[in-house]
Amino acid sequence: MATHALDRHIALVGFMGAGKTNRGRELAARLGRRFVDVDWRIEADAGISIPQLFAGRGGETAFRSRECKSILEALSLAEPAVLALGGGAVTTKQVRDALRKSACTLLVEIDLETAWERARGSNRPLAQDESEFRKRYEQRAPLYDEVADGRARDRDGLVLAAAGIQLEPGALERLGELVPGDGPVEIAADAHVAGIYGMEAQLALGARVRGLHELPPGEEAKSVGALERLWRDLRLDRRGTLVALGGGTTTDVAGFAAATWLRGIDWVAVPTTLVGQVDAAIGGKTAIDLSAGKNLAGAFHWPVRTVIDPALLETLPDEELANGRAELVKTGLLAGEPLWELPLADAVRRSAAFKAAICLRDPHDRAERAQLNLGHTFAHALEAAADFELPHGRAVALGLLAALRLSGLDTAVVEEQLHPQPVSVDRDRAWAALARDKKAENGVPRLVLLEALGKPRLGVELPPDEIRAALDSLIAG
Ligand SMILES: NC(=O)c1ccc[n+]([C@@H]2O[C@H](COP(=O)([O-])OP(=O)(O)OC[C@H]3O[C@@H](n4cnc5c(N)ncnc54)[C@H](O)[C@@H]3O)[C@@H](O)[C@H]2O)c1
Repeated sequence: MATHALDRHIALVGFMGAGKTNRGRELAARLGRRFVDVDWRIEADAGISIPQLFAGRGGETAFRSRECKSILEALSLAEPAVLALGGGAVTTKQVRDALRKSACTLLVEIDLETAWERARGSNRPLAQDESEFRKRYEQRAPLYDEVADGRARDRDGLVLAAAGIQLEPGALERLGELVPGDGPVEIAADAHVAGIYGMEAQLALGARVRGLHELPPGEEAKSVGALERLWRDLRLDRRGTLVALGGGTTTDVAGFAAATWLRGIDWVAVPTTLVGQVDAAIGGKTAIDLSAGKNLAGAFHWPVRTVIDPALLETLPDEELANGRAELVKTGLLAGEPLWELPLADAVRRSAAFKAAICLRDPHDRAERAQLNLGHTFAHALEAAADFELPHGRAVALGLLAALRLSGLDTAVVEEQLHPQPVSVDRDRAWAALARDKKAENGVPRLVLLEALGKPRLGVELPPDEIRAALDSLIAG
């Protein structure tokens, strides 16, 4: 049972004054979806305002039945949209049932005092009497809880919730509540991470846990052999959920195991590295490596939930943090925001929401998701020429340097934040690897560059000499 909005309508619910209309409009723009405000539709259809409808024949009861009809119509739109519902819509059982069946329902949270401050003095028919208002708030709270797949207060929170991402320090302790459904659960964990967080994860999952499978730490987890051992050990039936606990290598292989086991079962990603929390565990790409290349066998299989607990980064070695920081700088350049200046937990949240929005807009990597490759064409070429002995963050730092230079932009941010150092690799091998890049056409790489900070340009073709010179400038000696 998915908690995300991929291929589903997003319905925003919440009490009066929560800002569902403004937030809904912003969310729709961010996800490239149509926005439908149900109250506006009702007013347009009736030709009179909601206060007039409440005051007219049949009062609130007649209004609720109009509202229900309008919501059911909106939910039957073929293209997934963002709908903002009136505060009292959830009091109708038919609406609650329809939301559970065909929408990802997100509660826009607001506390009672703020709601009253915003609603008092307005012409809202149900905000005329303070004690009635307070009573109604208490009565509706359980109805919102009943329908909500996720909840949020701000813009990034809504995007994260729409992507099925629960991000909070201490989330690991709540894993039992956060893994949807009530079927059996098995954990696939990086062996090293299992030693640190495996017990806590199992305790949090309680009686649902049927076993923990250890995967080799690092890229070895993404081998055919490691995947085969995992398949051999899995006992889950189709009601089961596989929880992936570890960095990007773990979520990649466990996600792929879930995509293929019994032709696809649910999985939950619990990323424990910075790379995993801002990148690898978001967007549904799963893969293993083959001898012919990295990530060659894989599937798009979005986790039913992603649980990001920034507190898990406390035990992460500095070198692994540096790998993630390179991705944070990349995201900041794409977003046009200095994410690298934020405290780490805030940077993780902004960055995860940025990637989640792009992936919700382009889940199968057919268009704008390509921007996430900024700097990576060069990075992959250097890694291949170094037989993958080069830390990914170091390669990405160099790749970003080349991308900024070719974009004609200032490279100070990359230099100050990531201190890129030229690497000693064979120049011809690096060039050959770059020409083999997945994004190359007829041996000419198509690059992601920036027009300006926050303005990516995709599929840029440059003269091969210029690209080769940029690559050479990253190589020592
Ligand atoms: N699917 C995607 O969209 C996507 C995106 C980016 C990267 N990736 C993949 O991610 C992989 C890299 O992931 P990674 O950088 O997370 O590396 P990783 O999974 O290899 O983890 C790095 C190391 O950190 C250790 N570790 C993990 N969490 C820890 C913690 N909390 N405390 C202490 N040690 C911890 C692990 O044992 C491991 O040795 C690559 O295979 C890459 O292809 C996938």
